[in-house]
Amino acid sequence: MPRGSSGKGGVGVPAPGADAPGPGEMASVVARIRATVRQHSARFERSIPLIASENLLSPYAKELLISDLHSRYAEGLPGDRYYEGNEQVDEVENLCLGLARRLFRCSFADVRPISGTVANLAVLKALAEPGDVVGTSRLADGAHISSAAFGAFGLRGVRPAYYAWDPRTMTIDVPGTREILRATRPKTCLFGLSLFLFPLPIDELRATMEEIGARGWYDGAHVLGLIAGGEFQDPLREGCVVMSGSTHKTLPGPQHGILLGETDDDPELERKLQAGAFPGVTSNHHLHAMAALAVSLAEHLQFGREYARRTIANARALGQALHDRGFHVLGAELGFTRSHTVAVRVDSEGGGASVARRLAEAGIIANKNLLPGDKSPKQPGGVRLGTPEVTRLGMGEAEMVRIAELFDDLLHRQRSPAEVSDRAAELKRGFTTLRYCFAAGEAAYRYYDLVGRDPS
Ligand SMILES: Cc1ncc(COP(=O)(O)O)c(C=O)c1O
Repeated sequence: MPRGSSGKGGVGVPAPGADAPGPGEMASVVARIRATVRQHSARFERSIPLIASENLLSPYAKELLISDLHSRYAEGLPGDRYYEGNEQVDEVENLCLGLARRLFRCSFADVRPISGTVANLAVLKALAEPGDVVGTSRLADGAHISSAAFGAFGLRGVRPAYYAWDPRTMTIDVPGTREILRATRPKTCLFGLSLFLFPLPIDELRATMEEIGARGWYDGAHVLGLIAGGEFQDPLREGCVVMSGSTHKTLPGPQHGILLGETDDDPELERKLQAGAFPGVTSNHHLHAMAALAVSLAEHLQFGREYARRTIANARALGQALHDRGFHVLGAELGFTRSHTVAVRVDSEGGGASVARRLAEAGIIANKNLLPGDKSPKQPGGVRLGTPEVTRLGMGEAEMVRIAELFDDLLHRQRSPAEVSDRAAELKRGFTTLRYCFAAGEAAYRYYDLVGRDPS
């Protein structure tokens, strides 16, 4: 047994100095990490990426991720920091806040949450106390794990009151939910989904929320870029006082989070949201990502309307093309989707897990997904498909038909994954550069080699 090992398969805490790396050992680990990430980039370059929560960063935004801001601390708000040296950070963060307010047409923004989940925790800290009831949707109806006892709801100690759901229209059932709200009287009502096909009826529930004294909260993680582009619902105008979100799904920004709201008439709400973000759920925020977000917000102001419109048109075209080839696409009576997402029930093709795995073998990246009516959370009956990334690469409705043909060949006509993967790569070859951003035409999957060689 090596000195310092616990004896459990060689895993344990080494004695000081006992596990010093051999000559060149760590250099080769670094080389291996670089090679693996390059492999990843090359794989995505030839794949059809259909994960609904993913997107591609613009070159100018990417550049800021490796700027010196990555190395800095800036607790607090611009002009009121705990550290010195933040003047330039303050300037960028003020720009970022102004761009966010302009893009979402609202009075309040906070760009300190470092992800969508962290933004949700900040809202829960601001709007709810442990033990409170908070209205939300069930996971099986498409809600994010933030709403689960094992997620953010559980961390804050709040109890969910689940809305009624209409599986035919794939949205909240209004009469049933009115009854639930009157019976459970939540102080906060969360609207937002991870399987988000159609706008939610917040306006229709507004009077009931007012009647019971509940405030509306929208989790726009998935649809933020569509809302900003004016192509989805506008929650802050429909009865929600705050909107949280991730900034890297339909909004093609860096991995980060955001809070947005209408707080002009409610300075106490603004104070609580800010305190929820810091010191509630962050100390430093990620300044490099915040700067990249500022760029992405500016680009979305410039290019976002067209991008949002095409993303949705592509999703509807993909839904139609799959439906035409015998797939059970949800929401058929309503045009399949009004967002970036398409949900396909694949029980007859082998179930969500098996289909997602076979698609990946064939170069099509998607994810298995629980669908309303599924009996076991461990056996999702569907796959979720999204068009944010393929649209960002310039694909249009004709390419959505070609993608549906690949699905058909693989899952209905038993073509081999190798053959389908070759055809997926061929289709992708024409779509590997970025659109809807400044410096459009840059390689989307480029690995930026700063040093030019592996360490030795
Ligand atoms: C509705 C919803 N909210 C929040 C999140 C969490 O976002 P993040 O991954 O940025 O923490 C997600 C992630 O997919 C989501 O779908």
